[in-house]
Amino acid sequence: MSNRPRVVVTRRLPAPVEEELAHRYDVELNRDDQPLGPTGLKRALETADALLCTVTDRLTAEVLAVEPLRARILANYGVGYNHIDLDAARRRGLTVTNTPEVLTDDTADDAVLLLLMVARRAGEGERQVRAGGWTGWRPTHMLGTKVSGKTLGLVGFGRIARAVARRAKGFGMRVLYHDPYPPPPAVESELGVTRVSALDELVGQADFLSLHCPATPETRHLMDARRLTLMRPTAFLINSARGDVVDEAALVEALRRGSIAGAALDVYEREPAVSPELLTMENVVLLPHLGSATTETRVAMGMRSFENLNAFFGGGTPRDRVV
Ligand code: DGY
Repeated sequence: MSNRPRVVVTRRLPAPVEEELAHRYDVELNRDDQPLGPTGLKRALETADALLCTVTDRLTAEVLAVEPLRARILANYGVGYNHIDLDAARRRGLTVTNTPEVLTDDTADDAVLLLLMVARRAGEGERQVRAGGWTGWRPTHMLGTKVSGKTLGLVGFGRIARAVARRAKGFGMRVLYHDPYPPPPAVESELGVTRVSALDELVGQADFLSLHCPATPETRHLMDARRLTLMRPTAFLINSARGDVVDEAALVEALRRGSIAGAALDVYEREPAVSPELLTMENVVLLPHLGSATTETRVAMGMRSFENLNAFFGGGTPRDRVV
């Protein structure tokens, strides 16, 4: 029997990461790459020293209450950890880590991609070409919305939102943000952005409203029916943060009524399920949670999880310790 720490890796990871992990740990891979579900997660917690887990693992208080608990660390592969009950993890003496920084640029690119796609009707245009419905250039064909000179409202102003602000400046946009924990004034002047102290005011001013706050009990349904009505009828909602931040049923209703111009989503309330009404709407862009999905970044995220495990099992404090 190996005396190396046993690590259950809950989903398939890029090959270089799996190889690196296997050199150092007694690794159990999820060959089928299906989410483990509560039973599989409990078994992993009972039989391994560590879980290298992802956003598809719902590590609830009930799952974490498993007895006997062998695991000592949950090394999350991803920056967001709203799928882990942190209080329950704390109670069970589990360390929790995440993978910030390495995915900032890709996730910011994803938000800008959503913004451009919805403004310029890219999904709709592509569908038309593929369906053989394009009849050629004409001055009134598929007119979108100009981006340059428009106002971008950022909800939350952490690393990813700041990277979006840098990109938006390159497009000649005016950038406003709201964050209850504002950065030092130097950050604002360096990026040329302006803070709006009331979220409702930001919502009403934005031509493009992009969400970048973490999913917490406080931000659940932050964009609810009331706030959606504060948006301009010409404005677009962009969500590359977490599905829970938007009341998806209220969003469907706002789009149906035409009280906003469109939406571009990378994340959903009940992933991988998407509200069926959204699938039928041409002014809605739908991507399958691709924020950090580049080869380079997914390898970097894996290496960061690996480093966190190494620090923990080496007796130190992992650099990305959350709990
Ligand atoms: C993240 O890093 O939070 C991604 O959304 C995947 O979990």
